[in-house]
Amino acid sequence: MIDYTQFETASAEPEAVSMIETFRAIGYNLETAIADIIDNSISAGAKNIWIDFDYKGASTWLAIKDDGHGMDNEELIKAMRPGSKNPNEERAAQDLGRFGLGLKTASFSQCRKLTVISKYKNSTPVYWTWDLDYVAEARKWNLIKYDPGEDVLSQINSLTSGTFVIWNNLDRIVQSLHSDDKVGLEKFLQIMDHVKRHLAMIFHRYIESKKVKIWFQTREVKPWDPFLMSEPSTQKFPEDPLQNGKVKLRGYVLPHKSKLTDTKFREAEGPKGWNAHQGFYIYRKDRLLLAGDWLGMFRKEEHFKLARISVDLPNNLDASWQIDIKKSVARPPLILRDQLKAYASKIRAQAVDVYRHKGKVLQRKYGSTQYQPVWVEKLRHGKRFYEINQEHPFVSHLLSQFSGKNSELKKLLNLIEETVPVPLITIKESEQPDIQGQPFEGVNHDALLSMMKLIHSSYISQGIQDDLARTMILNMEPFNLYPQLIESI
Ligand SMILES: Nc1ncnc2c1ncn2[C@@H]1O[C@H](COP(=O)(O)OP(=O)(O)OP(=O)(O)O)[C@@H](O)[C@H]1O
Ligand SMILES: [Mg+2]
Repeated sequence: MIDYTQFETASAEPEAVSMIETFRAIGYNLETAIADIIDNSISAGAKNIWIDFDYKGASTWLAIKDDGHGMDNEELIKAMRPGSKNPNEERAAQDLGRFGLGLKTASFSQCRKLTVISKYKNSTPVYWTWDLDYVAEARKWNLIKYDPGEDVLSQINSLTSGTFVIWNNLDRIVQSLHSDDKVGLEKFLQIMDHVKRHLAMIFHRYIESKKVKIWFQTREVKPWDPFLMSEPSTQKFPEDPLQNGKVKLRGYVLPHKSKLTDTKFREAEGPKGWNAHQGFYIYRKDRLLLAGDWLGMFRKEEHFKLARISVDLPNNLDASWQIDIKKSVARPPLILRDQLKAYASKIRAQAVDVYRHKGKVLQRKYGSTQYQPVWVEKLRHGKRFYEINQEHPFVSHLLSQFSGKNSELKKLLNLIEETVPVPLITIKESEQPDIQGQPFEGVNHDALLSMMKLIHSSYISQGIQDDLARTMILNMEPFNLYPQLIESI
């Protein structure tokens, strides 16, 4: 033990103005900031959370209100204090907080005036404001007691208990806008729509389980389920427990787009789009921290976009998973990385199969029969080319039918092979991957069926059993994409 009394000391309190400016730069955006305020409402046992706002140019305000247990005056002052709780303190299992900072850092990141009005069970509401202009002038960590007005007080009085967090002077969003600025209003509404989608994602489990209702102005926020649980073609993998069962991993491969309606497919992509939302989904007590991230293990690539893996953490592993103040970063402990990577590799491999919608899945399913693609890749003098597979039963059938003019037909195939517009396809695929149709999509399937019938009867005439013949056809491109047609043979 060091005897500190033997040393000279000097006060070096944080300087209020510069410290608050530092808080403002923690890196929230509007949606992560609002989510952080909602965390507090959920921790306070709220059943309803209302997000209200009114666009008035630079005078725009935004409020996050809840019917949670509320705070009395002493608790409210403590709550307004930066660092109101020690991060090392043990928290109740349902508490989404950790640092004792979120209310302040999230609010200051967006506004210069934060008012909290709170009502503890049937008592009179209490209120305090952080006004950053006052802090700058007084150079002190002092709250102000502004009167919130009759309207707000009567609103909170209509609840048994609850808390209103009100943001005024939203300088980071609307400072330079006027109330009659139409473009500004449109931009603001766009941002708010993005916020709504973000909340639908971050709190989807709370909304789904009906623990909480989030109201966006008068509209109830509907949950966004990253795993399309209700879709029958979503593949769900067995759960894998880590860290003595405290952490749970579960992989999902979402359905190929041909298995979803256009609307479902668009909804499923999430606020940032299909590619961005692949990877791990880290939940801390059912609150989503990360919505699709390979945690530095893999790159995000188009063909892995159907892979999403949930990781469930309790709130007492925050230090080892390096949870940040904004609740939007988590880093697994080094010791778990290999396990996470191995699990993810399995899910990713399956996701590629589904994405390509190709024979691999069938190949495994139908064991011994060989997958027959239409196109095969060939190397010639070290350069890559694509050739039509002459062993594909339909192609070989056609070639045998034209035995006399076989060489002419082969010339035609060769002409097609040599002029495949690979660069164009590659560019289009990377620019707009989702508009690439699959073979025979959206056209009459008669031609497809007649090809299948022809191959089938040729197999039967060769003495191949009906069952095996059908299996072999299902393992051929493009018939593998339309297994339902085999019934019509
Ligand atoms: N809506 C609310 N209802 C009741 N109590 C609240 C509410 N918001 C904040 N509090 C109280 O204020 C405290 C401080 O909140 P703040 O968000 O700053 O920190 P935290 O939630 O403890 O941790 P974190 O920094 O991780 O968010 C909370 O711990 C809680 O006790
Ligand atoms: Mg908090």
